[in-house]
Amino acid sequence: MIFDVLTLFPAMFSGPTTESILKRAQQAGLITIRLHNIRDWATDRHRTADDAPYGGGAGMVMKAVPLAAAIRAALALEPKAPPAPVILLSPDGTPFTQALAHELAQQPRLVLLCGHYEGLDERVREALVTHEVSIGDYVLTGGELAAMVLIDAVARLCPGVIDAASISEESHSDGLLEYPHYTRPAVWEERPVPPVLLSGHHGEVARWRREERLRRTLARRPDLLPHAYVAGQLSQADLRFLAELGWMP
Ligand code: ADE
Repeated sequence: MIFDVLTLFPAMFSGPTTESILKRAQQAGLITIRLHNIRDWATDRHRTADDAPYGGGAGMVMKAVPLAAAIRAALALEPKAPPAPVILLSPDGTPFTQALAHELAQQPRLVLLCGHYEGLDERVREALVTHEVSIGDYVLTGGELAAMVLIDAVARLCPGVIDAASISEESHSDGLLEYPHYTRPAVWEERPVPPVLLSGHHGEVARWRREERLRRTLARRPDLLPHAYVAGQLSQADLRFLAELGWMP
């Protein structure tokens, strides 16, 4: 998977993309993150990438000319491949979810555009942006942190980046939250590990974990259960257990 990131602040990406799993994934050639400074496509001496809005008002707007040139140059980096999605990170976008992360992980390449100031010239959005994604209902100072969140969530789903087994039962993978985890010691500050986990009985452990996922989802994110139900992710045993806890579809 190739991520081409268009940003006014490439230095912001060091740290999140240069440590830990993303670092290893890049070293192993499983993902490539290329940073492009939008200012490099500015045409004036001051490398201006923003300007005052037509009609007046607060803030600045990202200029169409350098932005469009930057996007087109990024698209041209892989001329033989079908055009990559161009994703604008913005608080107006489609909410980012695990399901969207899985969908994007199917692509060979993503072009990520980090919005700034009051936004970008609407004509660039119309002409060149194919998707708009928000990481939550709050406003960041720019799209960079959102792009890093998207890269992190999508990269870990790319084959080989992390152990496939950790993905299948993690939070949100099938519409439920994750079960609790424990490691040694068996008793910590008078708190024992749930005995079933020490029983060596794999079937019982699996059942306990499934029930803990259901219990936790009902307690913390009951809004997720109707979606899991409609998506056919709740078995008859799940529904019986949830009924005991007082939840009915
Ligand atoms: N840029 C500013 N706020 C954002 C958000 N919530 N999601 C994505 N990009 C943003």
